[in-house]
Amino acid sequence: MKRHLRNGVVMISVLLVIVVVLVGCGSPATAPAATPSTAPPPEPTTAPADTPAAPEVLELSGDPVRGGLLYDTWWAVLAEEAEAPETDHPLWATQTTNTRSGADTWRCKECHGWDYKGADGAYGSGSHLTGFPGIFASKDKDPSEILAAMKGSTSPDHDFSTVMEEQDLIDLTLFVVQAQIDTDDLVNEDKSAKGDATQGQDRYEEVCTLCHGPEGVAINFLGFDDPEYVTTIANDNPWEFIHKVRFGQPGWPMPSAINNDWADADVANVLAYVQTLPEDVTLNQGGQLYDQWWEVLEMEEPTGDQPLWATQSTNERGGTDTWRCKECHGWDYKGADGAYGSGSHLTGFKGVLDSASMSADELTAWLNGEANPDHDFSAMGEVAISALVTFMREEIADTASYINDDKSISGDPAQGKSMYDNTCATCHGTDGKRLNFGDADEPEYVGTIARDNPWEFFHKAAFGQPGAPMPSGFGLGWSLEDIANLAAFAQTLPTE
Ligand code: HEC
Ligand code: HEC
Ligand code: HEC
Ligand code: HEC
Repeated sequence: MKRHLRNGVVMISVLLVIVVVLVGCGSPATAPAATPSTAPPPEPTTAPADTPAAPEVLELSGDPVRGGLLYDTWWAVLAEEAEAPETDHPLWATQTTNTRSGADTWRCKECHGWDYKGADGAYGSGSHLTGFPGIFASKDKDPSEILAAMKGSTSPDHDFSTVMEEQDLIDLTLFVVQAQIDTDDLVNEDKSAKGDATQGQDRYEEVCTLCHGPEGVAINFLGFDDPEYVTTIANDNPWEFIHKVRFGQPGWPMPSAINNDWADADVANVLAYVQTLPEDVTLNQGGQLYDQWWEVLEMEEPTGDQPLWATQSTNERGGTDTWRCKECHGWDYKGADGAYGSGSHLTGFKGVLDSASMSADELTAWLNGEANPDHDFSAMGEVAISALVTFMREEIADTASYINDDKSISGDPAQGKSMYDNTCATCHGTDGKRLNFGDADEPEYVGTIARDNPWEFFHKAAFGQPGAPMPSGFGLGWSLEDIANLAAFAQTLPTE
């Protein structure tokens, strides 16, 4: 299970509406006609069960791309915020080979495969083996039959109308009959792509780089210890790669190749290119640990006050906040000599900007409690501590040459605007107001952070946001100067 599922945080808005009119049973699907958004509302199908009398006119109106998203973690796609199922899918008990449980067992892909071939495809062996059939052959069936199967006509346990609405099932049906491709046309048996890496590079740099970065490491999909990047998926599971590139990522506004009118060959080319990227490049996530490290490490959040907290009395926060490095050492890394030298965050504690001059051993001793037993963060583990040490020695930087005393930025907002529009706007909105980090009464947007706390903005733009698949600016190959341009633009965004 991926860790970044966040229902309702970012809704994917798909404007494409496709109407299919099918006449008679078993007739091949006519080419989808794209219509403007004035398409008629979906008609409930009232297909009579066993009366093959007069040719039925079944009109399915919906969005096969959304159907492709629902094929994965459908609860992250539903309009109404839906909870992930906790029990096993009823059909799960009819197999014993795949030992996953809970929500995973409800994903269509877990039973039918990313290659749509079930037991006849990639899931015909290995830990995902269930023995369940694929759905590729169903693409030639009458859509009304597929829709009925989604409601339990073939097996009462295959009834998804209990968890999804009619329109969701229609979208899934349209995916099954219209949007499936034979992945063998794009991938060889040894998982290598049947595509042209050089052509794929152009497409990758046009679209994917904006979020995943030139080396593919700007977003880590998985845990801190076992990072997973686009390159990992391209090499290990090219079928998942193809599916996600064509349809997008549930719950996140990743573009869909189908909606962007890419040919299947484009997808194969991008796959071929990503497979040429070096797999041993990783992103140091130490910068994210400087913030809420327990989120990044998927640990229980610390309770009680950090022991050193009692040695100060000016900052009145308590509990979890007191364990964030930034709360004591500042977003500008200057502690009492910087922005936290006054105001509600004042503790009087020193900064860590000069720590870069310490040896790795000295810094490690500071983090595992050897230097001062009350400064013991060894609960995060050695790998994390070493990532923090790398962050402090190699990545921490003085932002004073970009952030002026009055918090204005020395940077070029025009350059920043294109960076913002290309990368940040997809999640935060062009005006930066789609995600509210505060609440309805006291909203806090990207624009707010950029103006009120430019140091935090710099830090988060460089390293990403703990617990969210927000791209890391350093992973995108940006310099501090680039981030200054971005910040200069972000300061022009509305704050209310
Ligand atoms: C727990 C495993 C499991 C899950 C989850 C699952 N299926 Fe199935 N599916 C099956 C099995 C087993 C069959 C064959 C028996 C049957 O038709 O009920 C099947 C059959 C089908 C068929 C073939 C129907 C036909 O008549 O050709 C389609 C299409 C299908 N599933 C689509 C889906 C979609 C879409 C989802 C996700 C919403 C999904 N399935 C989720 C196990 C699963
Ligand atoms: C607007 C930003 C954005 C763009 C552009 C983008 N992606 Fe993504 N991508 C994401 C996000 C966000 C995720 C979800 C990460 C998560 O859930 O942890 C993701 C997930 C993925 C995954 C699946 C990871 C998984 O295991 O679930 C693949 C594969 C992928 N992207 C490939 C690509 C490729 C190839 C392109 C270019 C065609 C691309 N992406 C373009 C933002 C983007
Ligand atoms: C509760 C406040 C607090 C938190 C949280 C905190 N520190 Fe500290 N840190 C201090 C204090 C106070 C000192 C100086 C202690 C001393 O001199 O004995 C210090 C010292 C250091 C030093 C040595 C600095 C020097 O120049 O000698 C480093 C490096 C450091 N902290 C890094 C971190 C990192 C990384 C984190 C997050 C994992 C962190 N600190 C979390 C309060 C904190
Ligand atoms: C894939 C989606 C995605 C993209 C792309 C993205 N962000 Fe974010 N960002 C998030 C999420 C999710 C959060 C956390 C929201 C929350 O905690 O409520 C966040 C949080 C933030 C925060 C911190 C808010 C806080 O106070 O904790 C800042 C600053 C920010 N983003 C800036 C940016 C900038 C600048 C860019 C472009 C370089 C960007 N984001 C691109 C998803 C994204």
